[in-house]
Amino acid sequence: MKIRLAVLVSGRGSNLQAIHRAIGDKVFDGEIVLVLSDRPDAAALDFCAKHGIPSKYIHPGDFKTKLEGAAEQAYIAALRSAAPGLIVLAGFMRVVKPPLIRAFENSIINIHPSLLPKYPGLHTHARALEAGDRETGCTVHFVNEVIDGGKRIMQARVPIRPGDTEASLSARVLKEEHQVLPAVIKMFAEGRIDYASWPNEPMVWATHRT
Ligand code: GAR
Repeated sequence: MKIRLAVLVSGRGSNLQAIHRAIGDKVFDGEIVLVLSDRPDAAALDFCAKHGIPSKYIHPGDFKTKLEGAAEQAYIAALRSAAPGLIVLAGFMRVVKPPLIRAFENSIINIHPSLLPKYPGLHTHARALEAGDRETGCTVHFVNEVIDGGKRIMQARVPIRPGDTEASLSARVLKEEHQVLPAVIKMFAEGRIDYASWPNEPMVWATHRT
């Protein structure tokens, strides 16, 4: 069955592009039925316009880092009317709160640029570098009420090399994000992920050696 995807973005949208590409390449049977952005200038919206993907900027309200109140209700209403089977947070830089999470129980996933539970929140690459870690990566996880704390579904690990900067590390991790996110969506599309029976141990997409 074709999976109906809603994608929430805030910026560049390279993960959105990876999903779009995977659909085009028939990696899984799916359709991006709606893209919502909390920023009117997100490059992701230009990509949508160019590719005929329904998309919309919805004003995110007065808070800088979260979605709450009337704005949150507007997001919920837009999502409901698109009837997605899965909602993907792909570089959506706001905390989603219980009303939205409950409206789409166990059907929201997020991609996060660290090996959760390490480094939830922001500046993950800087924190990994500062800690002297030898590897980092990305995690796709279910979204629940704990920030970046829902059940982890899949991770990719990447090495941290001498001389790495935030930029070099971010580019290396992003490459893996573009593999892992479509791979997880494929599992949803094929009915291979069920929240209740999913263990909290993530699958490992790839292991690189330093
Ligand atoms: C990605 O690296 C994603 O993991 C990260 O933002 C970037 C978005 O890139 N997400 C978060 O940090 C969420 N807290 P993109 O717009 O090119 O997909």
